[in-house]
Amino acid sequence: MPKTPLSASVPAAKTDEPSAVPMLDLARQYKAIASEVTAAIEAVCASQQYVMGQAVIDFEKAAAAYLGCKETMGCASGTDAIWLALAACGVGPGDEVITTPFSFFATASAITRLGARPVFVDVDPATLNISAPAIESHIRNAPSARLKAILPVHLYGQCANMDELQQLATEHKLKIVEDAAQAFGATWRGAQAGSMGHASAFSFYPTKNLSCYGDGGLVSTNAPEIADHVRRLRNHGSKRRYYHEEIGWNSRLDSIQASVLQVKLKYIDEWNEKRAKRASAYDLLLKSAGLLAAKSATQPAPVTQLRRLPQAKHIYHQYVLRVERRDALRDFLLQRKIGSEVYYPVPLHQQQCFSYLGYSLGSLPESERAAEDVLALPMYPELTAPEQASVVNSIADFFS
Ligand SMILES: Cc1ncc(COP(=O)(O)O)c(C=O)c1O
Repeated sequence: MPKTPLSASVPAAKTDEPSAVPMLDLARQYKAIASEVTAAIEAVCASQQYVMGQAVIDFEKAAAAYLGCKETMGCASGTDAIWLALAACGVGPGDEVITTPFSFFATASAITRLGARPVFVDVDPATLNISAPAIESHIRNAPSARLKAILPVHLYGQCANMDELQQLATEHKLKIVEDAAQAFGATWRGAQAGSMGHASAFSFYPTKNLSCYGDGGLVSTNAPEIADHVRRLRNHGSKRRYYHEEIGWNSRLDSIQASVLQVKLKYIDEWNEKRAKRASAYDLLLKSAGLLAAKSATQPAPVTQLRRLPQAKHIYHQYVLRVERRDALRDFLLQRKIGSEVYYPVPLHQQQCFSYLGYSLGSLPESERAAEDVLALPMYPELTAPEQASVVNSIADFFS
């Protein structure tokens, strides 16, 4: 609690509230598992097998068992995982891949790195995941023999509608590559995110719900030929040392990261459950603060929640709201030392580097609207009840 108000227009938080609520505090998780991870890292150092090695093989096996997939292949990052998955699914120069414009940059850049073209299709405004009806109308209005795949993102930890996407993919003979970077442990009708597409990509970047201590990624698949191809591509296109069947890259997972992931994998269900509990707590707090209800028929509610689909187990990688006067609210929270984030302020079709694709302003209106009003609140398993109360009280103060 600051001794003096931070600004004349920002009244200080109530005295019993925490003095700051960080957007993410990984130190709390580290404190809980420090002895286990440091022992795992030391074991790798003792083995002197730093790249690939037994720790990677063990983690790949454990991840495959968790995901219910035949194969998983560690790699250097989530970005590389998307790139490897698409390449192994046969996407190449001149091909087209349908994806969402409302995602992290890597979703689209991985497509372009293969010489292929991202085709952006708008999101469902209720979930902010890619809209299957929008994909269908795109295919109907602009059929293309170059279209090879659909790349859905399970945004914020909730699966895109896989029933509809799988139906479209079968009908139009397209591959599905899931970008499951934000969804380790999420499910759709009980099937794990990353187990439903032809191949899928995960990121273990430190802010992810399953994360390592640097960069790391994973490709999962049920197709042995895709698995073989990814294994080759991540290692210079080579199965046998110094013999190269094709041009690949160096995109391997290192053993230290794999050993950290192996420790953390044991806790992922517990951590995801805690995230879901924190999400329910936010729901309740927002409701009791009256923030979700419209004050009058002419005045919209200041805060709108995203829709959760009954088929999906959401793991709340992020807890995201759509809010009125988003940027002013964010500044207000910042002055109260409360973290928040905007995922994402610029939809991909409006990024300067993708101007050559020719999308004009207004062409994907739902994504453009979402970029103006989404706000992610602090969300991690170790977040406390007083911290959550402080976040919601501050939002209520802003709108009062
Ligand atoms: C949806 C999505 N796709 C891809 C990535 C890229 O992952 P990485 O940062 O591990 O390359 C991220 C994470 O940043 C992401 O959130």
